[in-house]
Amino acid sequence: MPAFSIRTLREEDFANVIQLSDSLGRRCDPGRWGVDECRLAVVTGDGDLVAWARAHFWDPTDPVAPAGYYLGGVEVAVEFQGLGLAQRLTQARLAWVAPRARQVFCIVNAGNAASISLQRSMGFSELARAAAFGSVRFTGGEGILFSREIDERDSALETTTFEIETRDQ
Ligand SMILES: CC(C)(COP(=O)(O)OP(=O)(O)OC[C@H]1O[C@@H](n2cnc3c(N)ncnc32)[C@H](O)[C@@H]1OP(=O)(O)O)[C@@H](O)C(=O)NCCC(=O)NCCS
Repeated sequence: MPAFSIRTLREEDFANVIQLSDSLGRRCDPGRWGVDECRLAVVTGDGDLVAWARAHFWDPTDPVAPAGYYLGGVEVAVEFQGLGLAQRLTQARLAWVAPRARQVFCIVNAGNAASISLQRSMGFSELARAAAFGSVRFTGGEGILFSREIDERDSALETTTFEIETRDQ
């Protein structure tokens, strides 16, 4: 039963984050993320980074998507997907938002079935669809704005230090 821990992402992790993103055929630029954001890594017992996620305040200056706290990207290495790591990272991000706001948002590409399913499994519901929210224009032409109320259970969760055990890989 391998154990993982969630901890704050460090600058020395950035190369691994970029590599992970690349392995999924995606691109990210952690050097541009603010230091006051929620930036989390999932690492194995050996210290290997296998997932990351972020949350941050965002004002998209958009007629539909409000200024507020948004879950940013979340990526899990292919061989570690389906173990609940993204859900754990989402719980940890909700715990970070909890003392800051009563509502949390996220935007998802309408073609990303796994991500949509993840948001729904975490209690998010759809607010709106658009070709763009603020400066974010969606590949494929449509994105979804999700939101969820923060409740007491969210703030009760640890942000960075809990460990999770999963089935054998
Ligand atoms: C989306 C992603 C982060 C999910 O990570 P994960 O750790 O595998 O997700 P979890 O194991 O926590 O699963 C959580 C829920 O998401 C949904 N889900 C996850 N993978 C799925 C898939 N391939 N197809 C459909 N639903 C999926 C399920 O509802 C699941 O809940 P369930 O197991 O109770 O049914 C992962 O697939 C990924 O890294 N994708 C590429 C990057 C990406 O698209 N990120 C999101 C936009 S930034």
